[in-house]
Amino acid sequence: MVQKILMICLGNICRSPIAEVVMVDTLEKAHKQNVVVDSAAIGPWHVGNRADPRAISTLAQHDLKCTHIVRQIHKKDFTEFDFIFGMDEDNMSELRRLAPKGSKAELLMLGDFGLEPKNRIIEDPYYERGAAGFETAYQQCVVACAAFMKERLA
Ligand code: 4NP
Repeated sequence: MVQKILMICLGNICRSPIAEVVMVDTLEKAHKQNVVVDSAAIGPWHVGNRADPRAISTLAQHDLKCTHIVRQIHKKDFTEFDFIFGMDEDNMSELRRLAPKGSKAELLMLGDFGLEPKNRIIEDPYYERGAAGFETAYQQCVVACAAFMKERLA
């Protein structure tokens, strides 16, 4: 059985592409197969673009590559994916609002896995100067993806 995971954030250029790449890396290192991971945006602004250069360089510093092209979330994602992750409370309320009745996806906040309650929000680093917030998001994703895999992916 293939399980499908979708990482969501507002623009799909900062946090969710990092979360996607980190989840794939976590699964690969654990030799876990049959899991598909993708990411998408709540909003349309960056559709067709690559991730923010700061997200790409943060991942590169950890020897990870990000080739994702931004796409916006679609109604059918709620029936195609098993798990849809938001990064913050705004993402979660948008996901709950967009979810069609009877959608199969479980809507979860990524930081609810493995992180201290005070660090559970993966904050938007887009408007910050520099890349420090991207490294923080990366580190949160590393902990949360490993914890989710251990807890929920048999
Ligand atoms: P992200 O960050 O949701 O982590 O990709 C953002 C990127 C772009 C915008 C907002 C958040 N924006 O408004 O363009």
